[in-house]
Formats: sequence, structure tokens, C-alpha cells
Amino acid sequence: MPPVSVKDVTNKSQEGINLTTKWQIIQVKPNLDEFSQAGRSTYLRVDLEAIWNNIQILKGKCSEKTEVIAVVKANAYGHGSVEVARYLNKCGLFHFAVATALEGKELRENGVTGYIQVLGNCVEEEINMMLKYNLTPTATNLQFIKKWAASIAQHYERVPSNGMLINVDTDWDKPKVVIKVDTGMSRNGCQCKELKSLMEACENNGIPVHSIMTHFAQAWDDPLSTQEQLKRFLEATKSYRCMGVKVHAANSAAIMQGYATDLDFVRPGIAMYGLAPEPTPEAAAMMQTMGLRPALAWIARPCLIKSLDAGRKVGYNQAYRLKQQERIATFSFGYADGYNRLLSGKGVLTDVSGKEYEIVGRVSMDAVTVRVDDSVTVQTPFYVIRDDYNSPNSASNIAQMLDTIPYEIGTSLSIRLPRIYHTKHKDN
Ligand SMILES: Cc1ncc(COP(=O)(O)O)c(C=O)c1O
Repeated sequence: MPPVSVKDVTNKSQEGINLTTKWQIIQVKPNLDEFSQAGRSTYLRVDLEAIWNNIQILKGKCSEKTEVIAVVKANAYGHGSVEVARYLNKCGLFHFAVATALEGKELRENGVTGYIQVLGNCVEEEINMMLKYNLTPTATNLQFIKKWAASIAQHYERVPSNGMLINVDTDWDKPKVVIKVDTGMSRNGCQCKELKSLMEACENNGIPVHSIMTHFAQAWDDPLSTQEQLKRFLEATKSYRCMGVKVHAANSAAIMQGYATDLDFVRPGIAMYGLAPEPTPEAAAMMQTMGLRPALAWIARPCLIKSLDAGRKVGYNQAYRLKQQERIATFSFGYADGYNRLLSGKGVLTDVSGKEYEIVGRVSMDAVTVRVDDSVTVQTPFYVIRDDYNSPNSASNIAQMLDTIPYEIGTSLSIRLPRIYHTKHKDN
């Protein structure tokens, strides 16, 4: 696949980041063969190497001992959790976080190895699945720890000679738990003053604590509250840290802004995929300056192009009326694929040269209509989302248009969209 443009990103633009080699952003042209491979006239192209590159850069912002827990919940923010996690396993990364036990089960059933933490408030209904698939729960209350302990007693036997737990059903590791502390977000987590009782409950029930964590509410742009949360967390965990218990707090925004990057783990999600935590031009510029790059492009070609006369109306509710003769191209994707209906009459597709083409009329469930010029044929590939921070249809710019955040753009991408993965590991 020939590169159409190669931008040189040198170490100069990534001050303080210890990259061993100079690397390049390679933007690849949509390839017509990929439509056949996808079996559809639209697909997502995911550059797995970009994800690995982004992880290295984020890791470069942290202390040397800090390990990365790759957050692959919500289908890896739309990128495909199984493929992403399997690829990262091959790169040597063995720490993952998902939102639910079912997401963890899917990873295990597809061969993902290593630590998989279930974030959020784990509930009793997830316990059997977590034990079966060696998933580490996040506990936020005493009741859960007691139920977790009771279920372990059913699934595990203690070896009398050394007290080790052996799973009677599988050969999984000894089940551990992560304790989550609420340091100011008031969503998930026990209160700081409850931490002691949760830690004691783990000890009394013989459950090893993998780590203690917290989560920041506004690490991107509220240094005061973030520092306060961090201070509370470090105070609450001080005695346990002295005993060697591991701790973690930082999400992407915190890593990028330099909070909690010297703890035992960091938990990046959005920035790992090259998406910005906020939909602002400043955030996109910072991503670019750091050498992060978007891992995903959404590509489509028209299925039908017609010349229509002035006065013709297009789409549901006849929302667009032609003032003159125009060429209208119909693309076979719509809001059921994750192209937001609010982009009706607002969104743009771009061709490989960057030229913009307007969506006209309503976005339907399975189709959108676009005004095109004479150069466009059914073989012309377009970007629906472009993997370039500066493009009007970058995930950030689309998010801004919709008054939302890039997280929602990624996680809205339907499983119906075929995903084609680019990687140097041929067998991924
Ligand atoms: C507890 C926790 N840690 C880490 C992350 C990753 O956050 P981000 O995608 O902002 O890096 C999330 C995502 O929401 C989370 O809930």
C-alpha cells in the first residue's frame, strides 16, 4: 500500500520523551481492494502500530517503573478490543482494563492473556464469570468483598501446607481484587475513611489486593481539583504503599498533563487510540506535538451517483431541495453504523486530497447522500472520519460539531462496520 504523504516527526517535537528511534507518520491511501476484503462499501481501517506507538509515547511521560494498563473497554473505544488486546499481547503488554465481566470474557475466549481488570462497580452477577475467566474485580464496598470471598471459597481449595488457593475448575491464578477509592469524583469507589475496613476485609478473607486506585474527574483542565484528588489519594494509601501495595490513578488526560505518572500503573484509554480527551483545537495540537496519532480512519465509497434536476428533493422528509442540477452520491452507511443523525446537512466527507463534500439531506439508518462534483465515481474513496487532526472530519472536529467528545465518536462506531487491521504482525 503506497504512502501518499509522509510527515517526519522527530524527537525534537517530543521533548522529554525517551523514544529510541525516529519514527514517521505514514498516511495510507484508502485501497480499493480493502472494500472487497471488508465485504462492504465502507469499513474502518485500524492502524495497530499507531496504538503501540501512542502507548510508548504515553509511557515515556511516566516514571521508568510505571506500567501501562491498556483500557480496552467499549470494544477498545470502537477500535475492536480483541484485535487490539491480542496485538498488544504480541508487543509484550499484559495489563488490560475493561468495563464489564462480559467484555473480559470475550478477551479471554479470544486468547488474550495477562491481567484483565474489570473497572467500575463490580456486581455480584459478574462474580462467577470473573472467577472462571481470571478477571480482577474492582471493589468499592464491603458487601462485594464478602461475596467475592464466599465465591472463591466455592471455586477454590486451599492447599493446607502453604495456604495457596487452587482453582478447582481451572488453573487460573489466585484471584485478587483492586480497591477503588473515591477521592472527589463521587461516582465509583469507597470513601477514603472506608479504605481501612475494605483492606482489613481482604486480609481477613485471604484475598490479595492487587492494587488501590482512584480516578480523576477533570485532569485535563482543572489542576487544582486534580492535585487535591491526588493528595487525598496519596494520604489515604500512604501506609499501604509503605507495605508495598501498588497504586494507580492516571487516565490519558492525567498522563498528558503530568499527574500521578510516577505511581505503579497508569490507565490510558482515549489517547492510546490517538483521540484527544477534549474536542478542542488545543487538545488536538497537543496530541500532535507529542507525536500521538489517530489509529482509526473510516473509509467509504459511493454506491450510486445520479444527476438530478433543480427542484428535486433528497432523503427522508425531503429535507434537501436542489436549487440547480447537481450530482448526488449515495453512500451505504448511516446512523446504524455510528454516523450521527445530527450530522444531517452538516457533516462533510473528504477525498484523499482533503477536498470537502457536504452531506445533504437527512442521515438515514443505512444511507447518506452527498453532493459531489464531476470527478467523483463509485470507485472514489472518501474519508468519513479522517486519521488526521487537521481534517474537518477528524474525530475531534466531528465531536465538536456534535457538541460531544471524541470518546462518543469512537464508542458509537457500530459492530456492523467491518474493521481492517494494519499491523506488522501478519498473524494478528
Ligand atoms: C477508571 C478508569 N480508568 C481509566 C480510564 C481511561 O480513561 P481515558 O480514556 O480518559 O484515558 C477510564 C475511562 O473512562 C476509567 O473509567
